[in-house]
Amino acid sequence: METEEGAATVGRPRHAVTVMPSYKPGRDAKQAEAEHGITNAIKLASNENPMEPLPEVVQAITDVISGVNRYADHRAAEVRGVIADWVGLPVSHVTVGAGSSAILHRLTSAYVNPGDEVLYPWRSFEVYPVYTKLLDGEPVTVPLTGQTADLHGIAGAITENTKLVMIANPNNPTGTAVNTDELAEFCAQVPDSVIVVLDEAYFEFVDDSMGNSVTDLLPRFRNVVVTRTFSKAQGLAGLRVGYAMGDPDIISAIDKTQLPFAVNMAAQAGAIAAVKHADKIAERVAGIVAERSRVTDEIRSMGLDIEDSHANFVYLPLKEKSNEVFLGMERQGVVTRLFDATGVRITISTVEENDRMLAALRASL
Ligand SMILES: Cc1ncc(COP(=O)(O)O)c(C=O)c1O
Repeated sequence: METEEGAATVGRPRHAVTVMPSYKPGRDAKQAEAEHGITNAIKLASNENPMEPLPEVVQAITDVISGVNRYADHRAAEVRGVIADWVGLPVSHVTVGAGSSAILHRLTSAYVNPGDEVLYPWRSFEVYPVYTKLLDGEPVTVPLTGQTADLHGIAGAITENTKLVMIANPNNPTGTAVNTDELAEFCAQVPDSVIVVLDEAYFEFVDDSMGNSVTDLLPRFRNVVVTRTFSKAQGLAGLRVGYAMGDPDIISAIDKTQLPFAVNMAAQAGAIAAVKHADKIAERVAGIVAERSRVTDEIRSMGLDIEDSHANFVYLPLKEKSNEVFLGMERQGVVTRLFDATGVRITISTVEENDRMLAALRASL
């Protein structure tokens, strides 16, 4: 058919797609510079790692680039094996994807029929409602207690229609976390027919005293699946590698929903090198954790009551002042993430960038 100016949208997308808002990524520095007529803006809006990947990781990626005329290994068998050894699980308990958000999407599409309920605390990671609604599932939310997931409330909200429970731990955007004792008590109340997804994108930034779900929960609960990513601690957000760990039945359901060759060759090589140099990455994580503590103290000294964060960001529950503070900081070239009339989330960066952020915050309050 010939196109006409002003003609109705071509084709007939599903209702869920038509009404669904698009995922909005954090604003980037260039956008803010153009909008406010400034230069030198910094982006603290997407919880990225401020450091370039380790040189060894860059080298590993470079080494495979000339081979990209071939497809990558669809199953990413070597990466699975390396991750399985690293976390101490049999390889049948591990799968990989193009970022942990892709795995969460695949998991949802593997389990959620129209009308099935997907339960999660709110506010939490923005993709949970998007993925659920895309499948005509029913999002069911349980408000945070303060800024932390209310595990008792979530357990009480499980019905016979619940298919998945999604818990971001630490939670995005509030940075709070629950420990594995609390999670074990919660999981004991969840029927086997319901999958509990522990979305641990920020796992490396959490103190060891909070426990490790892979060793503390997976051996006890077959219906728990844990997702982690190379995007944050390992600084490979642009490469897209995440992984899931759990019972082989869940892993094979996720595997069936994998798009062909989704984890590309550079991503596979980068992930393997990152695991090989995990000790160097741990040193970098320790630097970010130390900065998180300094930034938290500085923000508290400005009279703001913020919770301890277990991730690579801090959350300011500024309520009605949020938009004004967000804009004030952005005009000074510091791009953060605004949750309308609720709060502002700020990624922890290098010492210099954190100092710039603190000065901009102080001036915007
Ligand atoms: C809670 C949470 N889960 C998952 C992700 C997705 O990370 P990726 O898809 O890069 O692995 C993020 C990213 O911001 C996140 O905050």
